[in-house]
Amino acid sequence: MGWKSIVLAGGSGSRLYPVTATVNKHLLPVYDKPMIYYPISTMMLGGIREFILISSPGDIDQFRNLLGDGSQWGVSFEYLVQEAPRGIAECFLIAEPLISGHNVALSLGDNIFYGSGLSARIQGACAQPDGATIFGYEVADPRAFGVVEVDAAGMAISLEEKPKVPKSNLAVPGLYFYDKRVVDFAKQLTPSARGELEITDINRLYMQAKALRVQPLGRGMAWLDGGSAEALYEASQFIKVVEERTGLKIACLEEIALHNGFTTAEELRARFSDRAGQYADYVRRVIEREG
Ligand code: DAU
Repeated sequence: MGWKSIVLAGGSGSRLYPVTATVNKHLLPVYDKPMIYYPISTMMLGGIREFILISSPGDIDQFRNLLGDGSQWGVSFEYLVQEAPRGIAECFLIAEPLISGHNVALSLGDNIFYGSGLSARIQGACAQPDGATIFGYEVADPRAFGVVEVDAAGMAISLEEKPKVPKSNLAVPGLYFYDKRVVDFAKQLTPSARGELEITDINRLYMQAKALRVQPLGRGMAWLDGGSAEALYEASQFIKVVEERTGLKIACLEEIALHNGFTTAEELRARFSDRAGQYADYVRRVIEREG
């Protein structure tokens, strides 16, 4: 069976209060499009077409309004609710009826990836039917992240969530690929000291089963998140600079859908014929170029 992708867009967004008092963090703009477009684009670049979006009870309808059933991009979206932010790994328990028997890719809704070779990385992870794949990204200060230590052969030898004294500078970004054991592993978890079912504990179970691959994301790859005001501002600046320099948009879902053959130029032309704004102008240029 193929891959299903969970996109996680719950949480409290407390670090962005008061901006997030009435708006879900993942709907905020990162320069010229909603934050949630970026993790969806990452998965679509890897060829994934079946999405499960999980958010909080008060916010789920806004995602439904924004993304619909996904058919406009030739993909599918199903929607599930996380009653309270009880941790990232709870998503596998919530989604169990939809994912059991499937391999599952998880992307955190506030993680943004950009760089040459990204599609190949995702496709490479999806080509592995057994075990789990996570990524390692060198950062100056990894204390705010999951941190992985790898041996000379690139195998994980330790994993810690937000360590005060990190054993390496390799942070684990919010992009994870698991085989169908993930639901059983999630059922074994107990809440951490901060009261959450930790994704790092899922990864540790795969590590103990000698089934955790850690792929380095090299210097050519940008990994950003929109979790704090500074990070959100910097991510917007980054996207703006790259888009203006290249004339190409990052995470334009219509462009990826067309390029992957998920949708057709005719369908997009009909949808965008009288839509105003620079995003729509760009989609029309893409249609003329590729269509
Ligand atoms: O960004 C990568 C990091 O994400 C990893 O390195 C860490 O190992 C991982 O634990 C996570 O760290 P944070 O503690 O910073 O995650 P945060 O609470 O900010 O939530 C990450 C995303 O998941 C965010 O988009 C909100 C969503 N979320 C989070 C929780 C705890 C939910 O949808 N539900 C939740 O219960």
